[in-house]
Amino acid sequence: MSLPMRPTCIIPLICVILMSAPGCTARYAANWTSLDARPLPKWFDEAKIGIFVHWGVFSVPGFGQFSEWFWYWWHSQRRAEEVKFMQKNYPPGFKYADFASEFRAEFFEPDNWADIFKASGARYVVFTSKHHEGFTNWPSAGSWNWNSVDVGPHRDLVGELATAIRKKSLHFGLYHSLYEWYHPLYLLDQASGFKTQNFVAQKTLPELVDLVMSYKPDLIWSDGDWDAPDTYWNSTEFLAWLYNDSPIKDVVVTNDRWGKGCYCKHGGYYNCADRYTPGKLPDHKWEKCQSIDSRSWGYRRDMMLSEIMDLPSIIKDMVYVVALGGNYLLNIGPMSDGMIAPVFEERLRGLGAWLGINGEAIYASKPWRVQTENSTVTVWYTAKNKIVYAIILGWPSKQPLQLTAPKTSGVTQVTLLDYPNVPLKWAPVTPTAGLTIVMPTMPASPGDAWCLKLEGVV
Ligand SMILES: *[C@@H]1O[C@H](CO)[C@@H](O)[C@H](O)[C@H]1NC(C)=O
Ligand SMILES: *[C@@H]1O[C@H](CO)[C@@H](O)[C@H](O)[C@H]1NC(C)=O
Ligand SMILES: *[C@@H]1O[C@H](CO)[C@@H](O)[C@H](O)[C@H]1NC(C)=O
Repeated sequence: MSLPMRPTCIIPLICVILMSAPGCTARYAANWTSLDARPLPKWFDEAKIGIFVHWGVFSVPGFGQFSEWFWYWWHSQRRAEEVKFMQKNYPPGFKYADFASEFRAEFFEPDNWADIFKASGARYVVFTSKHHEGFTNWPSAGSWNWNSVDVGPHRDLVGELATAIRKKSLHFGLYHSLYEWYHPLYLLDQASGFKTQNFVAQKTLPELVDLVMSYKPDLIWSDGDWDAPDTYWNSTEFLAWLYNDSPIKDVVVTNDRWGKGCYCKHGGYYNCADRYTPGKLPDHKWEKCQSIDSRSWGYRRDMMLSEIMDLPSIIKDMVYVVALGGNYLLNIGPMSDGMIAPVFEERLRGLGAWLGINGEAIYASKPWRVQTENSTVTVWYTAKNKIVYAIILGWPSKQPLQLTAPKTSGVTQVTLLDYPNVPLKWAPVTPTAGLTIVMPTMPASPGDAWCLKLEGVV
């Protein structure tokens, strides 16, 4: 398919000299060398925290491990749990597509969602426009009778949420699955060993362009790429258009799932595998996606409290990610009726309360020269404007607390972010390295993590 073009430079030389002149655009070529060299728009690294939302027809059965894959477990894998669940609860002949009319979203209030996401301290939201089942949460012309306006909610879920999220000044991103398990054109291309591109020409690319033109997302979170190479998806052609000619060319951020073998290698920032957990500081911007429900991205009605991350685990995970230069994308799966389970809301508001006190150490921070050390508690460091932040996980059982990495000076000052304007007593360990800090008496914190602000240290 042809991608819609903006007028480009008339006199290329002037464009090279004056990249910002009207009508001139920096041109990215449709190859990875060129696309990978694009600087990541700054807002993304500064934002640090995002909320991931998995919502679709899969939210209706809302059952089993990785419930967003329900159709696949039941239909392709014949996984025992799903087969039994269907036999027990649905009449013979019931099809997955029959769930769509039960996806009613009758309690979906996008402003309520946006209020919770804002209160979590997140700065961006990534919403499933379409998962692998192919059901689009917007009225896609390429998804006749398998979209949220023709069937189910009879609402443009993407559009309504985009409006609500932007009212709260959060960035709005869209998750989009390149492949669809059972789309006839995809199956046709697959049978040809991905030599043909019927599905890409008639479904994937027109839908991606439609999403960009209609909703102008700040982020495209690509997924479902792994069966076929990027040359099948025409990923580099799409990204060159996105970066050169689309209406979001200057702000849009993309991830790295653009074809078999791409992740951790090509694209914008790196997601690598789900719940990517690097052992040391990566040399490329990355994001960890993590679900509050440890067993699923989509909502599960059979979820147990013991399977849900508690607030200290969430904060611990987030702090580790930010200290290693990553962003933290924390997932919830709303129910099919549009409610967010109160346990998820409580975790999100708890995270926001912690960030309300300690956010200074998180937002727009950079990794420090040392990222972590073990004292009587685990310590993670971040840095911003010559200030070093030492985030301690758990209250130190022994006083004073000793840090070995910071080098103190005559102007060193230590404060606790939850205990402002009162400098803490500290002493150097040796004249050149380390310090001991006398912690004040504090009430327990539901996040079980505290942040020391170290000024005048290197
Ligand atoms: C990428 O495209 C640019 C511009 O057309 C070209 O100079 C460069 O050689 C290409 N790189 C590769 C690896 O194909
Ligand atoms: C993919 O890109 C190639 C090279 O530009 C082009 O020939 C082909 O038509 C494109 N395929 C689709 C489906 O757009
Ligand atoms: C801190 O302790 C943990 C757990 O014992 C260990 O895995 C980690 O490597 C230690 N980190 C440092 C910086 O010593």
